[in-house]
This record gives sequence, C-alpha cells and structure tokens, in this order.
Amino acid sequence: MPGVVLNNVVKAFGDTVIIPDLSLDIAEGEFVVIVGPSGCGKSTTLRMIAGLERVTSGSIHIRDKDVTWAAPKARDIAMVFQSYALYPHMNVAGNMSFALRLAGTPKAEINERVQRAADILELTEYLDRKPKDLSGGQRQRVAMGRSIVRDAYCFLFDEPLSNLDAKLRANMRTELAILHKQLDRTMVYVTHDQIEAMTMANRIVIMDQGLVQQIGTPRDVYTAPVNRFVAGFIGSPSMNFLDAELHAEGDRLLVRGEGFSLPVPQRMHERAAAHDKREVTLGLRPEHFASERSDEDTHHPIELSVDVAEYIGSSQFLAAHIGERAVTATVYAGPDADPMESGEYFFDVTRMYLFDRAEEHAI
Ligand SMILES: Nc1ncnc2c1ncn2[C@@H]1O[C@H](COP(=O)(O)OP(=O)(O)O)[C@@H](O)[C@H]1O
Ligand SMILES: [Mg+2]
Repeated sequence: MPGVVLNNVVKAFGDTVIIPDLSLDIAEGEFVVIVGPSGCGKSTTLRMIAGLERVTSGSIHIRDKDVTWAAPKARDIAMVFQSYALYPHMNVAGNMSFALRLAGTPKAEINERVQRAADILELTEYLDRKPKDLSGGQRQRVAMGRSIVRDAYCFLFDEPLSNLDAKLRANMRTELAILHKQLDRTMVYVTHDQIEAMTMANRIVIMDQGLVQQIGTPRDVYTAPVNRFVAGFIGSPSMNFLDAELHAEGDRLLVRGEGFSLPVPQRMHERAAAHDKREVTLGLRPEHFASERSDEDTHHPIELSVDVAEYIGSSQFLAAHIGERAVTATVYAGPDADPMESGEYFFDVTRMYLFDRAEEHAI
C-alpha cells in the first residue's frame, strides 16, 4: 500500500531551485529516514509533505489522496520539530492534550489517549509536572507525546533528537524504533546524522544538494553505495579514498597507488574491465583493516605509518598514512594491547570499493 508518494516534486525559492526533481515512494507503515548534509533540502521536503511549504511543481499523495494543494490540517499528519516550545504554564498532561482540547475531543477520549502516549513514552509519573521541572529528554518526549496523542496517519520528524546529549539520543533512537512498532504508522524522519538513519530506518533516502543519491535499506547503502558521496557519508569513521590505477597482471587485476598494491576481487573484474579507464578512486573502510591476517585469501598486506593510536576499548583507532595520504583505520585490539605501531597491516580486499575518479559513481 502506498503511504506517502512524491511525484517529480520541484521546489524553488524565487529563482533558486532547492529541489530540482524529487520522487519518493514511501509504503504505508514504513519508517523512512531522509539523511544528508545541512542545507541539502531535508526540512523543505518534510514541510512540503506536511503542507507547510507549497511545491513549485509536481504532486504529493498521502494514503492514495492527492494532497498537493490540501491544507496541513487535511493531510492527517503530525509533525515533530527540532526546536519545540512547550507551554510553560501547563503541566505535561496539559501540553500533550492541548490540540485535542482545541479540537473539542471528548474528555474521556483525551484522557485515554494521553495515558496511552504517556505510557509509551514513559511519562506517566510526570503528567502533573511543569516543563521547567523536567530534564531535556523528558521535555523532548512531551513534544513527541503531543504528536502521538493525535494518532495521525503519518508522523513527520525533523531532527527531533539533535538537541539531546549523546546517551539520551541513543536511548531515544531505541524508543522511537519501539514506538514505530507499537503505533504501526508511516514515519518520515529527517536527520543529518547517519547513525540515526542507520539504526532506525527501514529504508534510508540519502540526499545531497536537493537530489536523491540513493534509496535503500541500511545494509544496502552501507554495502553497496552507488557513488563516492554515499560511500563517504554512510559509515563511521568515513571511508578512506585513495587515488589509484588498475593494472592487469596475467589473470590478476591489481589496484595500485602510492604505497599500496592490492588484488581486485574476482567478482569485480568484469565491472573493472568494462570501466575502460585505468584511473580510479579506491575506497577502503576503516573497519576493514586488521592488525592480524586471519584469512590468507582475502587479507592482503598494506603498509600503514601510524601517527596516533587511540585506545577505544575493544579496538584501536589509528590516524595513519598510506604513502602521503592520511587515512583512518579501526583495528581490533585485545584489552591489554599496546598502542599500535607503524608497519604491516592487512586489508580484507573483498570489502574494497572502486569509483570512477572523475564522475564518482561506483564501478
Ligand atoms: N524560505 C526560504 N527561502 C529561501 N531559501 C530557503 C528557504 N528555506 C530554505 N531555504 C534554502 O533551501 C536550502 C535547503 O534548506 P533546508 O531544507 O532547510 O535544508 P536542510 O533541512 O537539509 O538543512 C538551503 O539552501 C536553504 O538556505
Ligand atoms: Mg533542516
């Protein structure tokens, strides 16, 4: 069942085109996260779905209904913003029920909905408190609660967690995922934080400069990025990119550059051959380096000159160089390991990525 569908949506402010051509097909009940750098058009997209911003052209359907020109109220959506303002003089219950009271919903129903939302958000014991007596995370949950009580067809979230500290953000990510399961509603969530996108989404939409770069499951976009932008955006720390050249040597294909030479895995040979340029960009994720060779076939030696080794518990984070090129690597290291030093490391070549150097698409 289609839930929220955007067809060739264009958005311009005056002469400036922010979104050149956006099509999205979000299924009913799906949790879709739109992720991209600041200024790429995420909020504008969400506001167009909400009806707070008009489209320049194109159409928007919600639940099979053309809502392109419908008022926000007629769209059956609830939106949670990054910056929320609670009514300071009202307690939690009052804040959460405000919209329902305004709409003249019967009292018994209001109570029931507020109780249910408070239960889901673990706010039951705070219903009588004023916002000033709540922590930042509790206030954020009240803001969520205001939307949830309305039980809309579709929930829209615009970076609702970015004001919270790291631990609370992690908790709220989990709570939101649980909430999605409990409510079983279509949710569109916007963030610049790829970790939020990876952890919560059924599908991720990666945007850059108003253009969709890739749509896929978290696993899809991590394992098979369509271009260098997606490859660098998804994953933490970011993928390393190295200028390299392809060289055939008998039936082997090597990717070589300053300070390294690695065999290209067999499954990529055909695509590498079809790419009739010798010059490529090699992509190596930090987490695919290893300090020990656990597999003779797939782990190949690569020289790292280590500048700094940071101990981060189960692994060490290396700021290093391959030739003149700065790279990062996260290598597993036992609890008693000494700081890693320069020398021979290994890279799992089955996890390498190749990109067209000029056009940046994946090979
Ligand atoms: N009302 C507006 N008038 C003119 N430009 C705008 C307006 N709103 C947003 N923009 C521009 O549109 C682009 C996308 O903005 P936005 O959707 O807020 O990005 P994001 O949410 O991804 O950070 C930015 O360059 C921003 O400056
Ligand atoms: Mg924004």
